Amino acid sequence: MLILAIETSCDETAAAVTNGRKVLSSVINTQIEEHKVYGGVVPEIASRRHCENISSVVQKAVNQAGITFRDLDAVAVSFAPGLIGALLVGVNFAKGLAMSLGIPLIPVHHLRSHIAANYITNIDLKPPFLCLTVSGGNTLITAVNDYTDFEIIGATRDDAAGECFDKVARALGLSYPGGVNLDKIASIADNAKYPMPKPRVDGSDYDFSFSGLKTAVINIIHNLNQKGEAPDTPVLAATVRKRVCDMLIENTLLAAEKCGFKRLALAGGVSANSELRSRMEEACAQRGIELYLPELKYCGDNAAMVGVQAYYEYLDGNTADAELNAFATLSIDYNK
Ligand code: KG4
Repeated sequence: MLILAIETSCDETAAAVTNGRKVLSSVINTQIEEHKVYGGVVPEIASRRHCENISSVVQKAVNQAGITFRDLDAVAVSFAPGLIGALLVGVNFAKGLAMSLGIPLIPVHHLRSHIAANYITNIDLKPPFLCLTVSGGNTLITAVNDYTDFEIIGATRDDAAGECFDKVARALGLSYPGGVNLDKIASIADNAKYPMPKPRVDGSDYDFSFSGLKTAVINIIHNLNQKGEAPDTPVLAATVRKRVCDMLIENTLLAAEKCGFKRLALAGGVSANSELRSRMEEACAQRGIELYLPELKYCGDNAAMVGVQAYYEYLDGNTADAELNAFATLSIDYNK
């Protein structure tokens, strides 16, 4: 089944052609350079660039797959969650394309597609499994009971892990996207030199809180600056990276143990983090848990993962009509 997938939830205009779990083409037009100047994504600029780029990105994806629009069986699109103006560009383009070709339109939840990035390379991975999804806007532990059946086990009560990395990176003067650059320059953690809290959340062993940690680290940087001192950036970056990884790994492994999962996956932009990947690999090997990781090129936003999830949504009968809308927030288990 040939699916043309479109992703415009944030600052990447992406299109792909997939066939089941197979990726025939994947094109990403990133706006990073433009948003860098502002230290973060400017929503209106993102929407305008999607408007300008979407036609050529889609055309490129079709060309690179070696097919024509007439060969397509369906059009899929990220419809939630994300920047609303950005999502609307993709949704409306997808609607028009599906209508003009007379083929089904498949709405895809952005976080479900991040999880589906794991199906592309790990061909033996099938639900049920547990997944830690960590991105710039979301951090959650989900039981993937089936391809379209999700149960939230734990989630952040405030900021996402990616947001914590990005804001700390900005305070350290690292350029956008901060999380990646913080990971690159981090050396050896030293909690004695830079003491950081390890927030726990009342009433849940699996929920997270990152805003207190983010504020504590930003305060460390400001206090040093006020004294005319500069932080040891590689050590501070490593210390905050370690603390975030401690929290992500501990909660996820506890959830796997208590809920009886022997298969675990990571997903989302932060799943590219080098410490998270290596420590999770080690911890899972020690506990006899099979760990699945998305390829680095499919950790961040892309449309290939949207096409793969769309295939399973289609099999489950989840198509949309011309009234499809976009949503800035929507729970991953929205169809329960
Ligand atoms: O999934 P994603 O591309 O977009 C969202 O849907 O949010 O995730 C972007 C987030 C950003 O916060 C970015 O800084 C973070 O993923 N990120 C990383 C790394 N690569 C990307 N954070 C830590 N280490 C990395 N290597």
